Amino acid sequence: MGCQSNSSSQNATGPSFAIAEGAQEIDPRAVAADLVDRFGPGGMDPRVKQHIPAFDAPFFQAGLAGYSDAAMRIIARRHGCPICVTEALLDRTLLDGGKGFAKADLGEIHDNVPGGDEDHPLIGQIMGSDPAEMAAAAIKMIEQGKLRSNKEYRKLAEKEPSAIRHQPSGEEGKADGLMADGRSPMASPLGFSAIDVNLACPVKKISKKSRGGHWLREPEGAIEILRAVRDAVPESIPVTVKMRRSFDDTEEMRQNFLYLFDAAYDLGCAWVVVHGRTVEQKYVGPSRWDPLKALVDRNPERIIMGSGDVWDVNQIFRMIGYTGLAGVSVARGCIGNPWIFRQARDLLEGREPRDPTIQEQRAVLEQHFELALAVNKNYRDPELHTAKNMRKFGIKFAAHHPQAQEVKKSFIYVKSLDDWRVALDEWYV
Ligand SMILES: Cc1cc2nc3c(=O)[nH]c(=O)nc-3n(C[C@H](O)[C@H](O)[C@H](O)COP(=O)(O)O)c2cc1C
Repeated sequence: MGCQSNSSSQNATGPSFAIAEGAQEIDPRAVAADLVDRFGPGGMDPRVKQHIPAFDAPFFQAGLAGYSDAAMRIIARRHGCPICVTEALLDRTLLDGGKGFAKADLGEIHDNVPGGDEDHPLIGQIMGSDPAEMAAAAIKMIEQGKLRSNKEYRKLAEKEPSAIRHQPSGEEGKADGLMADGRSPMASPLGFSAIDVNLACPVKKISKKSRGGHWLREPEGAIEILRAVRDAVPESIPVTVKMRRSFDDTEEMRQNFLYLFDAAYDLGCAWVVVHGRTVEQKYVGPSRWDPLKALVDRNPERIIMGSGDVWDVNQIFRMIGYTGLAGVSVARGCIGNPWIFRQARDLLEGREPRDPTIQEQRAVLEQHFELALAVNKNYRDPELHTAKNMRKFGIKFAAHHPQAQEVKKSFIYVKSLDDWRVALDEWYV
């Protein structure tokens, strides 16, 4: 179970338009052309590229617990996605090396480490309840666990948050700050490009402690976390924040949101991605884009990004056109649909967006399974684990097929690469 266990559960409703009057009349081609006019090829706000030069187009693949592992990310990148976010990783899970926390229901560590040369730039997302643990987890993430032993990372979390820094010192262990090949992991192009703090996940509190979106009810605690993480991570690595637009629709919670949102920038966070649903709403009903537009109007000098109801390529550009956001997070709209990124590039480059041919769909289905098999190589039965995990992707991919209902059925019971190939041979020729 993750930030949303099952998108067809009662905690989620299917695709619908966001609440944003007139947004559906906005011409996505005109928005794309305007972005390119203003910012040059790629249409990305240069303020964002100052932080991460390779973030060259105004959209990215969201963190999606249970989905956005290295395999899904690489497929997205091959279709033009400029940058991806890992799924939310609990601070405790990170510090315990993936074993400890009984209720650590988010991603496994190995799903969240950069997946080789192709998986960059990558934003690592963390979530948790304690400032020192979050700071130590952030450090472990950017050091990729290579500068200290697991025990040393855990010990780091026992310090005062203000004493937790990236620079390893003698008393923190034998680490000299360098990897076996003599380079610092920070200098490695394969490290994380930013650390994102999740203040959005609606999954319940644990042991009465806040985490994720529940921090919107206790903004002071969230501010301590942001301060600890921002101070711990070297200045050269941006810290960003994912937030819901409010905990609920009361005035008190709206004020909490604004207070925390302002504090994030005051503390030096590079940008905030605001999901236009409340925490209470989980994934039920439409998001609202007006609150996002209001934030941009209120603080045009800030980099603000948005999330919510981006189901197809047109909504990427309508959301930007409607709100003025610097970038848009593509979440459920890219599960089984990496072509949304190609289509977004098409629009930015003045081409008509193309739907995938059957051959293109087959190629992606083959590649995704192969990549997932590589990502899952440490499981006891990597092929069975991969096949089971790929079922949910197959079902989403099937939506592009003219016989979607029948194709779906043939993915439901796959147990092996052979089963997967049988389905492809039946439908994707
Ligand atoms: C299955 C699922 C898992 C998610 N996991 C994460 C996560 O780990 N981190 C995160 O920031 N957001 C997560 N989200 C939220 C999405 O990134 C996004 O903000 C949300 O789905 C709204 O966008 P959409 O309506 O376009 O899907 C998740 C959403 C879903 C449906």
